[in-house]
Amino acid sequence: MRMLATARGTGRLVKSKIEVRSLQAYRMDADGRQQLALALTSSATLSTAATTLAPRRPSITSTSTSTSTPYNSSASARLSQLNNHITSTTASTLSPGASAISRAASRIYSTATTNKMSAQAEHPTVLIPGPIEFDDAVLQAMATPSESHVGMPFVNVFGDTLAQLRQLFITTSPDSQPLILSGSGTLGWDVVASNIIEPGDEVLVLHTGYFGDSFSDCLATYGAKPTQLGAAIGSRPSVEEIESALKGRKYKAVTITHTDTSTGVLSDPKEVAEVVRRVSPETLVVVDGVCSVGCEEIRFDEWGLDVVLTASQKAVGAPAGLSIMMLSGRAIEAYKSRKVPPGSYFASLKNWLPIMQNYEAKKPSYFATPSPQLVRALNTSLTQILSVPLSQRFAEHKAASRKIKDAVASFGLKQLASEEKFQANGMTAVWLPEGITPADILPHTAKEGVVFAGGLHREVATKYIRIGSMGVSVTKPELGHIDKAINALKTGLVAAGYTLP
Ligand SMILES: Cc1ncc(COP(=O)(O)O)c(C=O)c1O
Repeated sequence: MRMLATARGTGRLVKSKIEVRSLQAYRMDADGRQQLALALTSSATLSTAATTLAPRRPSITSTSTSTSTPYNSSASARLSQLNNHITSTTASTLSPGASAISRAASRIYSTATTNKMSAQAEHPTVLIPGPIEFDDAVLQAMATPSESHVGMPFVNVFGDTLAQLRQLFITTSPDSQPLILSGSGTLGWDVVASNIIEPGDEVLVLHTGYFGDSFSDCLATYGAKPTQLGAAIGSRPSVEEIESALKGRKYKAVTITHTDTSTGVLSDPKEVAEVVRRVSPETLVVVDGVCSVGCEEIRFDEWGLDVVLTASQKAVGAPAGLSIMMLSGRAIEAYKSRKVPPGSYFASLKNWLPIMQNYEAKKPSYFATPSPQLVRALNTSLTQILSVPLSQRFAEHKAASRKIKDAVASFGLKQLASEEKFQANGMTAVWLPEGITPADILPHTAKEGVVFAGGLHREVATKYIRIGSMGVSVTKPELGHIDKAINALKTGLVAAGYTLP
């Protein structure tokens, strides 16, 4: 079968013919367009070429016969035939863009022989508590031509994405303000600590693991006075303890790690916000939702939250690189009434608030260059997330996590999170059997094609592992990720010397 590949290279259109001898590699269904586009790089010229190629996929699909062939030596041979053919017949005329197309074609070929469900190159299934696996369409959204960050096509997408965040956080208040900054979840802490909190302010940090320590460090870096209210590992401070702490001192803010990714402990921001409103109404409620937004219920307005911060790489389902926040009118007032200027330049709300407001009003604006590709990926992921009721998404995460947790129990193991109501729905932290460390088991689970994470809590890091269950791994059961995780855990435990009950 002949496939016409059209590529735009360095300023001119070059046509080349790529002869594909075996059709098996291309047996893909309706995803054909995504697969081709995905395999290309994010350059403008290549994207154009992908569009040209894509419509030809169905005819290839319809004539193919088998997808079960693993990526084996005969597939390699066909791949090398394809490469040789491209090289020998077209190398002299191909532009750099077109030769990239040939590389992309090679990748498509190899992925098509190995993975029926996804257009992505074969890779271990990443089931750590973030970054998570990507949906093909999210990756494809980044394979777009370069564009101006102040051009209307991108400004429109940015504005729409900010509006999507209002839906994700469930806020309709005109006083709320979503933000998308280039950075990671940590940048959200800096925004809080350098804008909303002032030097000398007291902050109550509800500590459920490693990330409470880090948020405290960040607050102290900008001159705040954090007080940590802790609990035993696997537990969380009780409502009574929180109430008593709030009665004992005036706090500018209370911070909650919704899911502490180091322990898998779930906090209850709704319950905490209720106590705060009752006992210390001026205190702001700040939620670190890095490991919860997109997989745990969050109702920004209804629960009276003031800040929820997150990052793109966890349940939100986009690549790492975006710091995402929702601020309440009260949080913005706290920033506006500060006595000293913000303690940061890049993280300053003085710089970012007008930009975000302009983007949402679809007006071009500039403070620091955003990433059009990442914002497009986020937009695609949020479009998918918001295409079903959020309640359904949360229920799916709960069910998938339950399945893992039940399997863990059936293997005779316990979770760090001691009670069911303390257990996160986007991850599971599992105590390993006595005498087995993460280093004993993780190489075996990796051999099963699954990436889990080791322990992170400083005091017990060598005694447990963490399993993520977020995003497409949950919402697309046909990928089989959750079953794969359970099987890998079982196999890994046995290989590490554990006798299953
Ligand atoms: C609960 C929590 N907070 C904050 C962070 C920091 O986010 P980032 O690594 O994106 O800077 C993480 C990272 O995993 C996290 O899990």
